[in-house]
Amino acid sequence: PRRYRIHHLRDMKNRGEKWAMLTAYDQYTAEIFDQAGIPVLLVGDSAANNVFGYESTLRVTVDELIPLSRAVAGAVERALVVADLPFGSYQASPEQAFHTAVRFMKEAGVHAVKLEGGRNMVPAVEKLTQSGIPVMAHIGFTPQSEHTIGGYRVQGRGDQAAGLIDDAVALAEAGAFSVVLEMVPGDVSAEITKRIPIPTIGIGAGRDTDAQVLVWQDMAGMRAGQMPRFVKQYADLRGILTNAATAFAADVTGGTFPGDEHTF
Ligand code: KIV
Ligand code: NA
Repeated sequence: PRRYRIHHLRDMKNRGEKWAMLTAYDQYTAEIFDQAGIPVLLVGDSAANNVFGYESTLRVTVDELIPLSRAVAGAVERALVVADLPFGSYQASPEQAFHTAVRFMKEAGVHAVKLEGGRNMVPAVEKLTQSGIPVMAHIGFTPQSEHTIGGYRVQGRGDQAAGLIDDAVALAEAGAFSVVLEMVPGDVSAEITKRIPIPTIGIGAGRDTDAQVLVWQDMAGMRAGQMPRFVKQYADLRGILTNAATAFAADVTGGTFPGDEHTF
């Protein structure tokens, strides 16, 4: 398609075509991923850790995410751009969710928003979709609820599976156009993917979801330290940039940069 729309994602599910989603937080990554053919880019509240250097996702604000979202939405030609609604900006009421989502649509030009939560978010999902705002839902491990969940833990195991499936069905019925499943056992995400007509997007949710998402800095090896088990690293950008910075500094200290060709 010339531009990815929510119906294209549903068509891909119906045809059994899998697709990839990546986070993006700035112009160049958005442009690169868009040109690579990634259908959906997410301006995640993971910007907290991956852009702003906060230790928790809970700290990022609407005012911080809107300029990043504007950069991403402005840089793409084909990708559908989704912005995360940050912690505290939508849970109070469907009206609060509506006002926050409208800011992202008007001030940043995103095409959809994402929010975390299950059946409790049905009224908000209905309000937004009925107002013309596509909603991506997010269940399983939901980082904004880290402190009630009690840490980064797989969700939907054993007795919890039925509740998670009910959440997915309720969100789809409420009008969500897709749902992220984070850290969910593979058999449970397979069951959800079969049961609902909208695409499921997995992260640590096995291979049977309709799509997969990763944080781009994890995917491309930009971040240091231990990666979660669900990450596969496709490049070593950290190594590449370290080498570039080291070589630049060596040229400067050694007097080989700038050369004649760089000099006016
Ligand atoms: O904020 C984020 O990056 C996310 C994805 C991992 C789904 O919510
Ligand atoms: Na997020």
